[in-house]
Amino acid sequence: MNEPNSTIMILGGDGYLGWTLGLAIANRTDRPVVLVDNLIKRRWEKEAGAKVLVPLKSPRGRVAEYRRMFGKRNMSFEKVELLDSEAVEKVIAKYRPAVVINAAQQPSAPFSMSNAKNAAATFSNNIVGHLNVLWAIAGISKDTTYIKLGSGGCYMATDTDYVPIGRKDFFFEHQGKQHRVLQGLLPMQATDFYHQSKIADLLIDDLCSKIWDLKVITVQQATIFGATIPENHAPEFAGLAARFNYDAVFGTVFNRFVCQMVIGHPLTVYGDGAQTTGLISLADTTENFINLANLEVEPGEHLTVHNFTHRLSIAEIAQKLADVDPTAKITYLANPRREPAGGLGLEVELHDVIAATQTNKEARLQAEMARMLEFTRRYRGNIDPSIILPKIHWSAEETSTRLPEVSSA
Ligand SMILES: NC(=O)c1ccc[n+]([C@@H]2O[C@H](COP(=O)([O-])OP(=O)(O)OC[C@H]3O[C@@H](n4cnc5c(N)ncnc54)[C@H](O)[C@@H]3O)[C@@H](O)[C@H]2O)c1
Repeated sequence: MNEPNSTIMILGGDGYLGWTLGLAIANRTDRPVVLVDNLIKRRWEKEAGAKVLVPLKSPRGRVAEYRRMFGKRNMSFEKVELLDSEAVEKVIAKYRPAVVINAAQQPSAPFSMSNAKNAAATFSNNIVGHLNVLWAIAGISKDTTYIKLGSGGCYMATDTDYVPIGRKDFFFEHQGKQHRVLQGLLPMQATDFYHQSKIADLLIDDLCSKIWDLKVITVQQATIFGATIPENHAPEFAGLAARFNYDAVFGTVFNRFVCQMVIGHPLTVYGDGAQTTGLISLADTTENFINLANLEVEPGEHLTVHNFTHRLSIAEIAQKLADVDPTAKITYLANPRREPAGGLGLEVELHDVIAATQTNKEARLQAEMARMLEFTRRYRGNIDPSIILPKIHWSAEETSTRLPEVSSA
């Protein structure tokens, strides 16, 4: 039996972020780390024709590799389907973790827009899985702090110049009269089903923290870029590599561009590239989550944290890379998505817990780009250029090549 109140359980422990967090927390602390996953992403990748940059061992194989490389035994793996409420209750009851980090979701906007089945799979995995975890914590382990991965993209279509933390008073005029909303959440508006599921999740977090006196943190996470952290960067740590998707369905923009660059393919900007995104490196994300896991949250408190370092337009991301390698070319494709141009001037309220990663931003960006380029060049032979160009359009009629349909379990 683990010591009371020290275990960190990471849902989505086979994933890009979940595995990286597990590896970092296990190595940098002595807390027991329990990785939980149902391995569905491996199936979705096959069905979507996606590939990973570095072939992944099984989760148990990676846990064994961690023990061998670091000589520590504080990491384990449990195969659990979050859509199975009894299985979720069982694993929560077994460990009664101090902290649960939920990074177990369908994370792709294009996947959610590919067909009706995949939109439904996104909603069931992201909303029902999340609900099952909240029910289990409320029923069995109310001391647990629940940290849920949200997305900064929830505000993508909200026309505002400021994104606050938590509740605020809002005032507006209608037909010549002044009206108010007191202590409300900033309206969130998505442009795809994936982000719509994240909006639902945040509201569910807010509800459950209040009705069940739970300790909940929603992390409105910016787009992550990067392939490694110090624990798995060197070639001898290849057996500890994180999932790194670079295809058009599951690969995020910066990671996709880097892979295009190292194989000499033009960087494919969607539309005019004026649309903006929040960004944070994998290393900085990890550092902030370690601090978040130590944060004291009161029962009934729902804290929302914006986890980001940079805010760049898509064209600017491409240009940052082209500045590193002047032979790199940038091309512009018709935008398959429906996304607003976005305002570079948007201000986002920051919590102290992410302050450590807010310094020397340009140096951080350059350092992460250098690490990514070195790492992806090492595996450039694994990059398949045929899976990087987009085939899924937001307009249902225009989706030229539909993904095979996927069930949610
Ligand atoms: N990667 C990013 O840039 C980014 C940005 C913002 C938010 N996020 C969020 O962070 C989280 C992790 O994203 P990621 O990029 O690591 O994704 P990922 O696909 O690499 O990892 C998700 C993991 O969750 C598992 N999973 C999904 N449904 C499950 C279920 N029902 N039961 C058990 N396991 C299940 C998958 O098998 C997979 O291993 C997601 O919630 C995502 O929305 C990611």
